[in-house]
Amino acid sequence: MVSRVIPVEPFDLVIFGATGDLARRKILPGLYRRFCDGQMPPEARIIGAARTEQDSAAFAAQVAEAVETFLPPGKRDAEGLKAFCERLSYVAVDATGEAGWSALKEEMRDDVVQAFYFSVAPSLFGALAERLHHFEIARSDARIVVEKPFGRDLKSARELNATLAAHFDETQIYRIDHYLGKETVQNLMAVRFGNTLFEPLWNAQYVDHVQITVAEEVGVGGRGAYYDRSGAMRDMVQNHLMQLLCLTAMEPPAHFEPSAVRDEKLKVIRALDPVAPEHIVRGQYRGGAEPSYLEDVESDESLTESFIAMKLHIANWRWNGTPFYLRTGKRMKARKSEIVVHFKKTPHSIFDADAGSRSNVLSIRLQPDEGIDLRVTIKEPGPGGMRLIDVPLDMSFADALGPEAADVPDAYERLIMDVIRGNQTLFMRGDEVEAAWAWTDPIIEDWQRRADRPVPYAAGGTGPEEAAILMHRDDRRWREI
Ligand SMILES: NC(=O)c1ccc[n+]([C@@H]2O[C@H](COP(=O)([O-])OP(=O)(O)OC[C@H]3O[C@@H](n4cnc5c(N)ncnc54)[C@H](OP(=O)(O)O)[C@@H]3O)[C@@H](O)[C@H]2O)c1
Repeated sequence: MVSRVIPVEPFDLVIFGATGDLARRKILPGLYRRFCDGQMPPEARIIGAARTEQDSAAFAAQVAEAVETFLPPGKRDAEGLKAFCERLSYVAVDATGEAGWSALKEEMRDDVVQAFYFSVAPSLFGALAERLHHFEIARSDARIVVEKPFGRDLKSARELNATLAAHFDETQIYRIDHYLGKETVQNLMAVRFGNTLFEPLWNAQYVDHVQITVAEEVGVGGRGAYYDRSGAMRDMVQNHLMQLLCLTAMEPPAHFEPSAVRDEKLKVIRALDPVAPEHIVRGQYRGGAEPSYLEDVESDESLTESFIAMKLHIANWRWNGTPFYLRTGKRMKARKSEIVVHFKKTPHSIFDADAGSRSNVLSIRLQPDEGIDLRVTIKEPGPGGMRLIDVPLDMSFADALGPEAADVPDAYERLIMDVIRGNQTLFMRGDEVEAAWAWTDPIIEDWQRRADRPVPYAAGGTGPEEAAILMHRDDRRWREI
């Protein structure tokens, strides 16, 4: 069973930074996939823009190469690629200069959806917004898409918001967090709000604790200089983990529509208690066969964390007393992202002590294989008396929905189509981003004040021992990575 593909309206999508890494790896191959699926109508056009001087044919060749490099053979075909490339054009534009803007204006049509993807450094957002306005290119219903990082603290996020707000209304701004485009993240909302089974139990009375893990196998690689200025807190927790936390903990919105969903997410962030330093573990990976963090960032002095684990409390009626444990790190044992809800044990066991006791666990896997798994308690089969075990009721999408379900669109594909449809539900609103920084800033400032030193952890493991102790102190354990 595969979902129906509903074509979006014809559009002009300008990608600023079309020659860059993100455009080549994600945006353009994603658009090609939507084109092949029939979701991108034949009248749609994609206009690449960057400073590099080249014509549309050279750009199309570059895009074809990117598709061949970043999509597996089963997901591309020569004929489709040729047809897709006919939808492409290119204009050399300097965000900070005057060159190219009139030519870009010439490219744009009046009667189609207009979107501008700012796939460039955030320092260029203001210049782009200003010039789109000054050269009368962006209409009042145009949409702009911006990438993370959205600021590096509350002050810079406010400045960025103000820069964009000078020329675009909030309803026109799409702040991407690609975690929100994942199939399972939307399924989390379907599971919570589309079943009567879970929501009555989704509170401190029945939930013992929640674990959110985003583990990466890779290190900081070639992004060392950039990463060292940010660290896991800014790079992962303030945005991706915070968004996952919000969707897990939020109250049911009245409707599945942008304002209602984003209002509820914002309330979660605002209800977060400040985190005590003893509830935070920061780590830095040491080398094995691969270079250590300090070698990767070429500094012996760095105090930046490549791992963080923390225990959070949400101060509201629903969650009072239920901790949320977050952890994310680089160079971990495996690539794994999941949200795991651990329910409490039954209030009384009717079985004798030999039977043991179990509790239900609902895990929502984002990667590597998206799916949902609920562990339920049953009797161990056989004649050995009443012994309890837990078994998975597993809903791997590929198993439940057929192999074609494994072909669900990548997060970027879905989110770009949402931009064209004008649906902001899965994008972060300005006040959400600011609230997340307002919560993050004091934590980072405290580290800086104390010159807090991350603890070392072995590459290829599960993070520092101190992270395990954070859990042990509460008589709990992290899930296996
Ligand atoms: N790469 C990722 O996986 C990733 C993931 C999440 C978020 N992001 C964010 O996405 C944005 C783009 O990242 P990236 O990795 O693609 O960067 P990148 O590889 O450095 O590409 C930057 C792009 O901007 C263009 N550019 C630079 N200065 C310009 C100017 N003055 N006027 C017009 N175009 C200009 C460059 O082309 P020319 O040199 O030809 O002008 C290039 O196409 C950044 O904000 C980044 O933080 C990236």
